[in-house]
Amino acid sequence: MANIINSRNGLCLCHRVLNRSHQLVGAVQYVKNQPCLLRMSSNTAHKMQTWQIHEYGSSEKLTLNTSAHAATIKSPNELLIRIHAASVNPIDVRMLGGYGRSLINILRKRKGLITAGTEFPLTLGRDFSGTVIEAGKAVSKFKAGDEVWGALGAEKHGTHAKYTIVSQDEISKKPDNLSHLEAASMPYVITTTWAALCTIGELKEREAAMKRILVLGGSGGIGTFAIQLAKAWGMHATATCSTDAVDLVTGLGAEVIDYRTKDVWKELHSVDKFDYILDTLGGENTKNALPYLKPRHDSHLITLISPLLSNSDKLGVLPGLLQTAVTAGIETLKGLTSGTSVRWAVFMPNGAALEKVRQMVEAEKIKPIVQQVFPFTEVPAAFKKVSNGHLRGKIVIDALVDS
Ligand SMILES: NC(=O)c1ccc[n+]([C@@H]2O[C@H](COP(=O)([O-])OP(=O)(O)OC[C@H]3O[C@@H](n4cnc5c(N)ncnc54)[C@H](OP(=O)(O)O)[C@@H]3O)[C@@H](O)[C@H]2O)c1
Repeated sequence: MANIINSRNGLCLCHRVLNRSHQLVGAVQYVKNQPCLLRMSSNTAHKMQTWQIHEYGSSEKLTLNTSAHAATIKSPNELLIRIHAASVNPIDVRMLGGYGRSLINILRKRKGLITAGTEFPLTLGRDFSGTVIEAGKAVSKFKAGDEVWGALGAEKHGTHAKYTIVSQDEISKKPDNLSHLEAASMPYVITTTWAALCTIGELKEREAAMKRILVLGGSGGIGTFAIQLAKAWGMHATATCSTDAVDLVTGLGAEVIDYRTKDVWKELHSVDKFDYILDTLGGENTKNALPYLKPRHDSHLITLISPLLSNSDKLGVLPGLLQTAVTAGIETLKGLTSGTSVRWAVFMPNGAALEKVRQMVEAEKIKPIVQQVFPFTEVPAAFKKVSNGHLRGKIVIDALVDS
């Protein structure tokens, strides 16, 4: 499939995405016009296609089940969604390898999502854009036929499927000006960035103007969205990326440091310090970046590379939690002495954040960055693409196209 990038207002899309949006309108119409789909009821057993794993490993473990039992609404707060498109995120690749299973399985058990003593068969994929087919009795904000986008909790069966079940607080209406392929690229990175900057970092739109942010890793899914959010709120953004991504990242409004040709930390000596640093890289980068944070109580370095899940996998749940708490305590003590500290953030479903960003997308302040679209039948190839790294925006699965 053709790779990147045609530019429409700087929006990166392969031309096949644009062509397919016409097919999608037709497909959405088709779904709306199919009484059999709209009449699907939680009491009716129906089948669907879904990508599943039966054990952890690499993309070879992904198998397409063409007659899986479609998920059904079990709680009045839930909705049945026909998925039009989903994205593949680094978290999917890591969960394919078993990342986070210890803690996530506890959540699954608590919510009754493990019934046969195992999490398998497991469907991966955290976000989607699609159409509401059926809404539970307590759902007040959405109805059948609504076009929505969302990102699901890690404990749930995922979105690399034709249908999924969501709760109403995990979704919002999809932006009217985006195709489902474009919209599906955004919910996971929106909700993760929101968790990092707004929830953990306590950034508020009304106080954001003129603040300075450094995004370590500006060219990937999180980086390209975080820069746009910061710019939309009037912040000054600096981002690191490699040479071939400089145009993309500059086009989003960031001042760029090319980490392939320059020493990032030397370059940062000559600029003002930052109110926020969003670290999508981890390792030495987190430590190296800390001196560039303003030494103020309301300046924060937030890293997305949290040890919580990996500690629990390696050490067991309780020792893992303990180890993480010790590390967090050390970071807090360092913060008390130096005035700057590292905070960890993790993805959290957040329909309210999606609703706020929907309005910003419709006002053309934020746009999706889609690198490549794969048909539903090529989900393993999409996983390989993500695990190979060097992404420029997002990888999307077209759930309406089978080959
Ligand atoms: N804690 C959570 O809940 C959570 C949630 C979402 C994401 N994450 C993590 O956050 C990270 C970023 O996520 P993502 O979705 O944005 O990943 P992504 O789409 O794969 O993007 C990563 C980007 O970083 C660039 N990069 C790699 N090394 C770099 C360096 N030294 N300096 C600057 N840029 C560099 C990569 O391109 P080049 O290699 O070509 O430079 C790529 O564009 C991942 O590790 C992911 O697992 C965590």
